[in-house]
Amino acid sequence: MYKIAVIPGDGIGPEVINSGVEVLKALSKTEPNLNIEFTTFDWGGDYFRKNGEMMPESGVEQLKEYDTIYFGSAGDPDIPDHVTLWGLRLKICQGLDQYANLRPVRLLPGINSPLRDVSEKDIDWSFIRENSEGEYSGIGGRSHKGYSHDTSMDITLFTRKGVERIQKFAFEIARSRPRKLLTLVTKSNAQRHGMVMWDEIFEEVSQDYRDVTTDKMLVDAMTTRMVLDPKSIDTVVASNLHADILTDLAASLSGSMGIAPTGNLDPDKRHPSMFEPIHGSAFDIMGKGIANPIGSYWSSVMMLESLGEISASKRLMSAIEKLTSEKKILPKDLGGSSSSIEITEAMINIILGKNY
Ligand code: IPM
Ligand code: MG
Repeated sequence: MYKIAVIPGDGIGPEVINSGVEVLKALSKTEPNLNIEFTTFDWGGDYFRKNGEMMPESGVEQLKEYDTIYFGSAGDPDIPDHVTLWGLRLKICQGLDQYANLRPVRLLPGINSPLRDVSEKDIDWSFIRENSEGEYSGIGGRSHKGYSHDTSMDITLFTRKGVERIQKFAFEIARSRPRKLLTLVTKSNAQRHGMVMWDEIFEEVSQDYRDVTTDKMLVDAMTTRMVLDPKSIDTVVASNLHADILTDLAASLSGSMGIAPTGNLDPDKRHPSMFEPIHGSAFDIMGKGIANPIGSYWSSVMMLESLGEISASKRLMSAIEKLTSEKKILPKDLGGSSSSIEITEAMINIILGKNY
């Protein structure tokens, strides 16, 4: 029996996560050994309005009791973004030391890329985002607010331990993929301290992975390569902010922000990992019933994989691919006109082997 903590959060989070839970329930009916108990937490913007915080003080401790976490999104039109982000999602990622953020990017069958002449085999990437420090260390400060010498500072922090562990993780992922090719994204020409250490450690770690081919790209040049030569890319490791930016581009090149999944992982398995679609709260379409739940299904695939439920995760991924390739029921952002509910029903029927 797996205990899953479900945090739907804000905006379209509840719409896509509830759909994801329905689909997981259908899947567990057809997999005799897959038993899941879902526990939902009402943390987020409304919780903040009632309690003055995005989740209770003991929130991170409570989550440690679960096998894994299924997250929607955090954000609220009436609460500053840095408050919602640091009060929930980053608090969980840092609190559980989920230091590796894994972002698979693939052009799924039936989906069009905005790039000309690319096929499914040209966009099959694995992005590894450092998820505990770098530009998101949270260290910094603000002083003299309201005066003309108003001052602010955000510290980009790289620790040897933090850099080594994410780069080892990236080499392991690269090694597990057929091409065994890892690109280091850097900006050591301009960021002359932290990123220089980042490059040096990459060189050191690579000595233990001589079977993996490596190359190095400045982050600005990487955007060009993703657009002009996508098939030259396989596995990519980048700092927290660099990967944040590159993976939005990656998601759009693979069809839509709506399909992209992510896992905030603790590869050392001390604590539960957390899986979520990367699209965020999308208030402009909230409550309209048109949110694309595919990112949350793909996140479930990653979640099942991390639990060791390989056959269930493969079946769920095949169901997603059937949905996209047959193009009968697709959300608006993928050129269709189906509602989130119609997509949920279609997925459940595919899983149960019924017509849809
Ligand atoms: C992501 C998102 C978040 C981030 C936002 C919602 C704060 O863009 O997961 O990529 O910047 O990390
Ligand atoms: Mg992002």
